[in-house]
Amino acid sequence: MSNVVSYRCQEGVGLIVIDNPPVNALGHAVRQGLLAALNEGLADASAKALAIMGAGRTFPAGADIREFGKAPRPPSLPDVIDAIEVSSKPVIAAVHGTALGGGMEITLGCDYRLALESAKMGLPEVNLGLLPGAGGTQRLPRLIGAKAALETIVEGKPIKASRLAEVGIVDEVVSGDLERKAIAYAHQLISEDAPRRPVSALPAAPEDADVFAEFEAAIARKKRGYLAPFHCIEAVKAATEMDFAAGMARERELFVELLNSPQSAAQRHVFFAEREVAKVPGLAKDTPQREINRVAVIGAGTMGGGIAMNFLSAGIPVTMLEMHQDALDRGVSVMRRNYEASARKGRLAAGQVEANMGRLSTTLDYSDLAEADLIIEAVFENMDVKKTVFGELDRVAKSGAIMATNTSTLDVNEIAGATSRPADVLGMHFFSPANVMKLLEIVRGEQTADDALATVMALARRIGKVGVAVGVCYGFVGNRMLHKRQSQALELVNAGATPVQVDRVLYDFGLPMGPFAMADLAGLDVGWRIREGLRESDPANAPAPNWMDALAEAGRFGQKTGVGVFEYPDGGRAPEPSETTAAEIDKYRTEQGITSREVSDEEIRERCLYVMINEGAKILEEGIAARPLDIDVVWIYGYGFPPYRGGPMYWADQLGLNYVCERVKAFREETGDPDWHISPLLEQLAGEGKSFADL
Ligand code: 3HC
Ligand code: NAI
Repeated sequence: MSNVVSYRCQEGVGLIVIDNPPVNALGHAVRQGLLAALNEGLADASAKALAIMGAGRTFPAGADIREFGKAPRPPSLPDVIDAIEVSSKPVIAAVHGTALGGGMEITLGCDYRLALESAKMGLPEVNLGLLPGAGGTQRLPRLIGAKAALETIVEGKPIKASRLAEVGIVDEVVSGDLERKAIAYAHQLISEDAPRRPVSALPAAPEDADVFAEFEAAIARKKRGYLAPFHCIEAVKAATEMDFAAGMARERELFVELLNSPQSAAQRHVFFAEREVAKVPGLAKDTPQREINRVAVIGAGTMGGGIAMNFLSAGIPVTMLEMHQDALDRGVSVMRRNYEASARKGRLAAGQVEANMGRLSTTLDYSDLAEADLIIEAVFENMDVKKTVFGELDRVAKSGAIMATNTSTLDVNEIAGATSRPADVLGMHFFSPANVMKLLEIVRGEQTADDALATVMALARRIGKVGVAVGVCYGFVGNRMLHKRQSQALELVNAGATPVQVDRVLYDFGLPMGPFAMADLAGLDVGWRIREGLRESDPANAPAPNWMDALAEAGRFGQKTGVGVFEYPDGGRAPEPSETTAAEIDKYRTEQGITSREVSDEEIRERCLYVMINEGAKILEEGIAARPLDIDVVWIYGYGFPPYRGGPMYWADQLGLNYVCERVKAFREETGDPDWHISPLLEQLAGEGKSFADL
C-alpha cells in the first residue's frame, strides 16, 4: 500500500486520496500510488464509481518540479492519466485548493469534475518554461475549444471555480464538505447510470489557422524571447489537426524539447529562488513575529502614495502624514485616481475603490501615528530630513512599532541612530511604481531585531510583494548593480556607440528597456541634481559634467518633459532617436578629445552585463546579499531581467565564471575603470572551476 495515496470504499464510492504534503505534487511515489489505488478501485466490486481527491490543503498542484532534469521513472503521468481515462468505472475529480499543471490534467482524464467554490484550476507550466505535458494541450481544446484553451495554456493563470463552470471545465461547483459532496454526486451519477465521458474521445474541433496566427501575433511582444508560449501554441494546434494519439506524441516531443532547454532550467531556478528568498539565512523559522494591523506612511509623494496603496489593497488601514495639507490632498487624489483607473480596466471590483480609500486616514500631526504597528518613511532623500523624521517617530511611536525607511541611497544604520531603538528600524525599499512593482528590498540594519525583520518579510508576502533581505550599502543590491551598468552604457556611447544601439542590445537580451530609456523614465534631472550637488560640495571628487548633464541642464528631463536622451512626440512613451542628443554627444566627444570608434553589439552586451556580475560578486563577498539567488530575484522582480535567463548570477554560471572572469580582467586592462576591479570571490570561484551555485 502506498503511503502517499490511499484507497477506501465509502457508501459504494471508491475514494482515492493523494496525501503528499505540502502541495500533493505528483512525484514518482504518487504516480505509482495512484495507479495502484485505481486498480484497487476497479477491482473492488463494492465501488460503483471512483473519486480522486487531495488531502490537506489542495488537489495536486502539478508534477513534482524537483524531478525535472532527472531520469524519468515510470509510470509517467500521461500513462497514469490514460489509465484513469480508460477505466471501466466513472471517475470523478473532486477538487479543492489549486489543481494546477499535472493536477488539472488529472481532472481532464476524469469523466466528471466537481470543485469547491474556493478552488482554482490552471495550467501554469508555461511559467516554468514548459507546456502541459500530460495531455493538457490535447484534452483541454477538445473540452472547451482551441481558442479558450490557448488562453488558458499560454497565460498560465489559475481560473476560479465559477469561471471553470462557465466555460465547461467543471461540471458542478459545491460548498461545504467536499468528500460528502463527491459521494453524493457519485450516487447521483450511479443512479442515473451516467455515461463515462473520456475527453480524448471528443472530436477535436478544427480551428481556422488564422486563430493561431492572430494569437501568436497578439502575444509576440509580451512573450518576446520566450520559447514555451510558442511551443504551447504549436501543441494546441496539433490538437486541432491530428487524432488524439498523434497529438499526444507531438505534445511529448514539444514538452521534452522544452524540458531540456536552458530556458526551462532557468525558469525552474526562478521558481525555487522566489521561494528560497523568504527563508533568510540566520533567521530561525520560528522567529516570533509582531502583529501588524495598522500602518502609517510619512510623505504622500511619488513613493508614499504607492506604498500606502499596497496596504489599503490588502485590507490594512493606513494613516498618511505630510508636512502640508496641499501635499496631502495631492497625494490622496493621485491614489484615488490610480484606484479608479484600475477599476475602469476591470482590475478592481466595483466598490473596491471606496473600500480601499475608506481605510485611509490623513494627518499633519505626528501624535496621530501613536497607534501604528509599522511606520514607513518616504520623505525627501536627505539625511537631515530623515533624521528629523525618525527623531519625531522615536517620540510618538508606540513601543514595539517597526520604523522603516524607503531610502534608496542613505545609510539605514545612521537613520536608525536617530532613534533610541535602532532594533526596531529597518529599510523597506519599494520600487516605483510602488503599488505595482513586486520587489521589496528589506534592508537589515546592524541592529535590526530578528523579529522585526521576520515580521516585514512575512508582511511583504501579505501585500503581494517578493521580499528580499539585503544589507546596508549604497544602492543596496539592485541599484548598486544598476549604477555600474548605467555607467558602462554612458562610457560605451562616449566611445562611439549610440544610445539607440546600446538600448537595442539590452532590449534584445530580454530586458524591458535599455539603460537610456530607463534613464528617461526615471528622469535625467534626478542624477544631474545629485552630481550638481557633489560638484558644489566636493568638487575634487565630483564627476565632470557629461552630455547627459547637458541635456538635463537644457530642461530635457526625459519622458516627463517629452524630451530626454530620446524624444517622445505627442506625449507618447515610445522612444525616438534625437538629433539634439546626437549633437550633444558629438560636442562632448570633441571637448574630451575622444575619437569615436565602432562599438560592437557584443562589447555592449558584455560590458553592460558583466560589470553587473562582477558587482554582484562583490555584493556577495560583503554579505549584502546572502546568496546569489537573492540577487537573481532582485533583478527579475525589480528590473525585469528575463526569467528565462534565470537572473544575472544564474546566467553568469551558465556562461562559465572562468570566461566571465577573463572578460572582466580584459575590460579592466582596456579601460582602466575601477568598476572592472575584479571581485576576489569571482576570481576564486573561476580559479576553482566553480560557479555561484556552489556557494
Ligand atoms: N513540485 C515540487 N514542489 C512544489 C511544487 C511542485 N509542483 N509546488 C510547490 N512546491 C513546493 C514549493 O517549492 C514550496 O517548497 P518549500 O516549502 O520547500 O519552499 C512548497 O511546495 C509550498 O509552495 P509555496 O510556497 O509556493 O506555497 P503557496 O501556498 O504559496 O502556493 C501553489 C501553492 C499555488 C501550489 C504554488 O506552490 C505553485 O504555484 N506551485 C507550482 C504549480 C505548478 O507550476 N505546477 C505545474 C508543475 S509542472 C507540471 O505539472 C507538468 C505537467 O504538465 C506534466
Ligand atoms: P517625492 O518628492 O515625490 O515625495 C516626498 C514627499 O515627502 C513630499 O510629498 C513631501 O512633501 C514629503 N515630505 C518631505 N519632508 C517631509 C516631512 N518632514 N514630513 C512629512 N512629509 C515630508 O519623493 P519620492 O520620489 O516619493 O521619494 C521618497 C523617498 O523614496 C526618497 O527617500 C527616495 O529616495 C525613495 N525612493 C524613491 C524612488 C522613486 O523612484 N521615486 C524609488 C525608491 C525609493
